[in-house]
Amino acid sequence: MNKKLTFIFIALVVWACTQDELANPLDGELRNRLMQLAPDSELAYFQLPLETDLEQIPQEPANPLTAEKVKLGKLLFYETGIANNPVFAQGKGTYSCATCHVPEAGFMPGRSQGIADGGAGFGLNGEGRFKLQDYEEEDLDAQGARPLSLLNVAFVTNTTWSGKFGAHDANVGTENLWGEGDPLTEVNHLGMTGIESQNVEGLDLHRMEVNEYVLDTLGYRSYFDAAFADYPEEERYSKLTTSFAISAYIRTLLPTQSPFQRWVRGDLTAMTDLEKLGATVFYGKAGCFRCHKGAALSSNEFHALGVNDLWQSGGLKTDPYDKRNFGRGGFTEKEEDMYKFKVPQIYNMGDSPFYFHGSSKRSLRELVDYFNLAIPENEQVPEEQISPFFHPLNLSEGEIKALVTFLENGLRDPDLNRYVPEQVLSGNCFPNNDPLSQQDLNCQ
Ligand code: HEC
Ligand code: HEC
Repeated sequence: MNKKLTFIFIALVVWACTQDELANPLDGELRNRLMQLAPDSELAYFQLPLETDLEQIPQEPANPLTAEKVKLGKLLFYETGIANNPVFAQGKGTYSCATCHVPEAGFMPGRSQGIADGGAGFGLNGEGRFKLQDYEEEDLDAQGARPLSLLNVAFVTNTTWSGKFGAHDANVGTENLWGEGDPLTEVNHLGMTGIESQNVEGLDLHRMEVNEYVLDTLGYRSYFDAAFADYPEEERYSKLTTSFAISAYIRTLLPTQSPFQRWVRGDLTAMTDLEKLGATVFYGKAGCFRCHKGAALSSNEFHALGVNDLWQSGGLKTDPYDKRNFGRGGFTEKEEDMYKFKVPQIYNMGDSPFYFHGSSKRSLRELVDYFNLAIPENEQVPEEQISPFFHPLNLSEGEIKALVTFLENGLRDPDLNRYVPEQVLSGNCFPNNDPLSQQDLNCQ
């Protein structure tokens, strides 16, 4: 192209871009609103760090993120070869972290409840997993609340629906409870953030172990050597380092390719008009932003929405008296915390249609209707506990549709597969490796 033509071409592009912006008031409206809500008045407040930019990802000072740790954690998270302590021999080597945190299901289980040891089957994205006949309910590795998504977990300082893990933030002042009544929380005395603490205990809870077989037969020892070279050898292959590697990996699970994130980074074409309208409802009339905050759309706050518990949707190994039903109060035992649950992140929600801690809602439309009408469904929850932000919203049919579209598409990263390894060192099927799952996953 000659110079003159190049100039005209550039001028045209610039003109087209500004026209585009002017032509679509939805962009300006949404941008102004977000800047108004950002404490620093910057749109970047809503921007997730890129998963490759390790320095920018929130992290635990004792476990600085490195590429080597992430690489090891990315294998261990899916490695059915660490499923070494099942209740019965047939469970050995059949499950992994990803059994309950399935990437294709937005790092949720793809069904109402996660079942690791004691379950079999996978289906297409976790929905086809069931309890094995031979296992009694109490033998299962299954919990009385739906597994949380692990997307954006780097922003969570106190993990689980009750926030019981983690030494800082919400748990300052709860030191007397660490270990009391729940030996798992003793790990908080290590003084670390929720993720790193929880994953030390999570290995035992989920019947996993990195042992000589994993290190030498499967070949993970050199990966630990690379990730923890600065640790003396006798401390290099422990539950703590295993937690550190897995924690480092899950901190990188950021839905940065979602249309909303691409829009925040400046690509105004990333969202459709309906999604932009939905975002405006989310950040305006619907008031969702009051609890789902920042780039991760979560917060380390606890609120009661009066939703049903997991036993009410057929959850196994749980009942009306399960401590998990009390949310934060089940941990702190304080009256004011009863029935309040941590505000979860809400990207890729469309990938696993089981919503709230008790999986009581089966579609995003149903969920939005619940917020719109604001009639608590759980009779156990006293009215005075319900959040004052949970009130009728009077959304029109059009606003509801736009909001649902924003949740379903605007907040959906279509390429979570980039976080999944091609294979794990054992060569096993993953995330599950029982005979039925092998069939479902085409591993044979
Ligand atoms: C049997 C299913 C199951 C397996 C296996 C499992 N998880 Fe979970 N996970 C859950 C459930 C259920 C919760 C929520 C627990 C609660 O709130 O009481 C959860 C919560 C979490 C959280 C907290 C997230 C947050 O936002 O607070 C993290 C982190 C986590 N799991 C990591 C892991 C890792 C790492 C592994 C493997 C070592 C693993 N999980 C294996 C079911 C499972
Ligand atoms: C008062 C604070 C608050 C407000 C306002 C709020 N949420 Fe939530 N949201 C929560 C809490 C807390 C949960 C988890 C509740 C539970 O499971 O017991 C939740 C759960 C969700 C979930 C399901 C997440 C999962 O892992 O199952 C979605 C989706 C969601 N909210 C979207 C919205 C939308 C859309 C709005 C606006 C219409 C909204 N929220 C308003 C606090 C809030």
